[in-house]
Amino acid sequence: MPSANSRSTEHAIDIQFLERWSPRAMTGATISETELMTMFDAARWAPSSYNSQPWRFVYARRDSAHWPLFVSYLNANNQGWAKNASALVVLVSKLNMVTPATAPKEVPSFTHALDCGAAWGYLALQAQKMGWCAHAMIGFDYAKATETLNLPAEHRVEMMIAIGKQGDKSILPEALAARESPNARQPLAAITHEGPFAKS
Ligand SMILES: Cc1cc2nc3c(=O)[nH]c(=O)nc-3n(C[C@H](O)[C@H](O)[C@H](O)COP(=O)(O)O)c2cc1C
Repeated sequence: MPSANSRSTEHAIDIQFLERWSPRAMTGATISETELMTMFDAARWAPSSYNSQPWRFVYARRDSAHWPLFVSYLNANNQGWAKNASALVVLVSKLNMVTPATAPKEVPSFTHALDCGAAWGYLALQAQKMGWCAHAMIGFDYAKATETLNLPAEHRVEMMIAIGKQGDKSILPEALAARESPNARQPLAAITHEGPFAKS
């Protein structure tokens, strides 16, 4: 069975799923607009309900005037490492969508966050393929990001993403350096179930 990064699988999946992981040690390398757009391009090919494409990628590159604002959203723990990222992205979802039955009227989307999750996954895999790493974050000030990004109505902040070139773990605070390695997964048997659960 495939194995990479001290990770192994139960079935013959593509090796890219093992190779992608979420390092925190980042070098602060400069990322080009083209490299970033390539990652967003991969992300927009994710499937979404009614092809509603609710994802919006609001970003700052580290050399830009917007960088300090985006870093200021992060909690202290995430700031400790993500300040060395090359780009910070706020993934925003659009809450409403048009369906064939309701066009041109918009209706609430039940799956906007789910769709954005798929797009994030595509972005992370594309980044990995390009020699970058992408690390998702929930540890930040959602209210501040919502307010200062001037989000249009009917949009919601979902998560942040730090994108960078992997660096040596010695640049991390001690506690994070100790955790800087690819982690494992629950066995398939723990997360799959054929048919309904038994009634309790
Ligand atoms: C929605 C989401 C939020 C996360 N938030 C954080 C975070 O705030 N800080 C952090 O260091 N890691 C965060 N992570 C990274 C996860 O801990 C990591 O993806 C998980 O342990 C699996 O490890 P892997 O990505 O290396 O395979 C987050 C991941 C996701 C998908």
